[in-house]
Amino acid sequence: MLLEGKKALVTGSRRGIGRAIAVMLAQEGADVGVNDIERDQAAEDTLKMVRSHGRKASWHQADIARLDQVHAMLDAFLREHGRIDILVNNAVATVDKPFLDVTEADWDFEVGNALKGYFFCSQRAAKAMVKQGRGGRIVSLSSVQAHRQWPDKLVYGICKAGVERMTKGMAKELSGTGINVNAVAPGYIDSRLLPPDQEHTRGQTYYTEAAVPWIPADRLGVPDDIAKAVLFLCSPLAGYVSGQTLIVDGGFLTGGVPKP
Ligand SMILES: NC(=O)c1ccc[n+]([C@@H]2O[C@H](COP(=O)([O-])OP(=O)(O)OC[C@H]3O[C@@H](n4cnc5c(N)ncnc54)[C@H](O)[C@@H]3O)[C@@H](O)[C@H]2O)c1
Repeated sequence: MLLEGKKALVTGSRRGIGRAIAVMLAQEGADVGVNDIERDQAAEDTLKMVRSHGRKASWHQADIARLDQVHAMLDAFLREHGRIDILVNNAVATVDKPFLDVTEADWDFEVGNALKGYFFCSQRAAKAMVKQGRGGRIVSLSSVQAHRQWPDKLVYGICKAGVERMTKGMAKELSGTGINVNAVAPGYIDSRLLPPDQEHTRGQTYYTEAAVPWIPADRLGVPDDIAKAVLFLCSPLAGYVSGQTLIVDGGFLTGGVPKP
């Protein structure tokens, strides 16, 4: 097991990629704090899945865009687990609009979640890690959209580019503390949990099989593809890796056109 006895907090992990990360860290021996802005059956299922690996799972309902809630979440996590070894910044909420229609409120909402939220969760966790004196790991979710423009996703792309720059900056600022800071940039990940009566809508969005011809791996990614990359960066195998973004996109960003 790569993470025996570690204490990990994963934001936005009631479903999707965050859930896959929470469960994989537990499978490798970590106790896990599951954060999300809302608690529903999916959240209960994630907690159960973590516990099914014999690990402790704690629930932390908080809006990562609110500094008071971030501080309360970290305080509660530290009370429950005694320390924090790993933070995974995964939560996301987006406003998808054409550039010309984005309002100040849209900007504040998305940047508040995807940039400010990641920044202050990292700062609060890093403060605790520095005080503990045992090093630690911070991994943030970026996206291939930090590197390419998708329709109506300019603010999202800006936030993810910011996450990658923040990752480098935090790695440097935390020199000598033993805290490694990295990011993972997923490509097309089929993480949506669609009820059977909505399955037909899969073919109508960008996040679908329609993208497969552009992906050298010849398939969409699945949440576990991302969880494995996060696990690597949290593990002793990545002890000398810091300030990096690991792109996990099946080769999508190699560019070019599909094979005929
Ligand atoms: N799915 C993909 O194809 C893909 C591709 C590239 C990058 N990513 C990144 O991976 C991460 C996970 O994506 P996903 O597809 O699993 O997303 P998702 O929407 O399925 O899950 C995100 C979770 O974050 C929670 N959340 C939203 N706002 C929050 C807040 N303010 N505080 C706390 N929790 C909040 C949501 O409730 C949700 O449970 C995101 O950072 C996303 O940008 C995903």
